[in-house]
Amino acid sequence: MMIVIPDVLTAAEVAAITDRLATADWVDGNVTSGTQSALAKRNRQLPEDAPVAMELGTRILDALGRAPRFVAAALPLKVYPPLFNAYAGGEAFGTHVDSAIRIRRGTDFRIRSDLSATLFLADPDSYDGGELVVDQGLTDHRIKLPAGHMLLYPASTLHRVEPVTRGTRFAAFFWIQSMVRDPAARQMLFDLDQTIQALGATLGAGDDRVVRLTGLYHNLLRRWADA
Ligand code: NI
Repeated sequence: MMIVIPDVLTAAEVAAITDRLATADWVDGNVTSGTQSALAKRNRQLPEDAPVAMELGTRILDALGRAPRFVAAALPLKVYPPLFNAYAGGEAFGTHVDSAIRIRRGTDFRIRSDLSATLFLADPDSYDGGELVVDQGLTDHRIKLPAGHMLLYPASTLHRVEPVTRGTRFAAFFWIQSMVRDPAARQMLFDLDQTIQALGATLGAGDDRVVRLTGLYHNLLRRWADA
């Protein structure tokens, strides 16, 4: 599943975050990399335990909790606290796959990465390059979203970030462990949810058929979810 979650953050929230990022102390992005990724990665990150990263990450987690499309698509069990990166001056991240298990250093927080998320924080007109390219077999998807929009994509995919040749690309990135491990089951639940939402808008949420379909959704979730 590749899905765009628009307007996770408002323009004002993006501006407040990027103001802080502009003056933050960045370090080499390889602080969070595995050995294979480190070979491909040239960018900068905020240290995971930097107070500014933790504060801004919490704001993003709060925003995600208010984003019904994110909750319906990801069915999140655990969300890795968001990290922040910056690319400029030709920096890029070559083709790689994200680690299956992420452990937050110095804590007992661990997560299986089912989904990867990139929340774009810079206006696309303010930088050149920096597309997130996700390999989906026969086609590559090249993604560059407005600031405040987020891409959710399977953590199992090969992907890369193209060189940034002008300006700075700021983003938040993190991983989600879903309550529903099987991507096909998760996709069907999302499709059913979206259909129920559309029918509810037309027929009314109290319509008998909408109520029955909602019951079916929850019974499938009960069957498939680990909570
Ligand atoms: Ni990655």
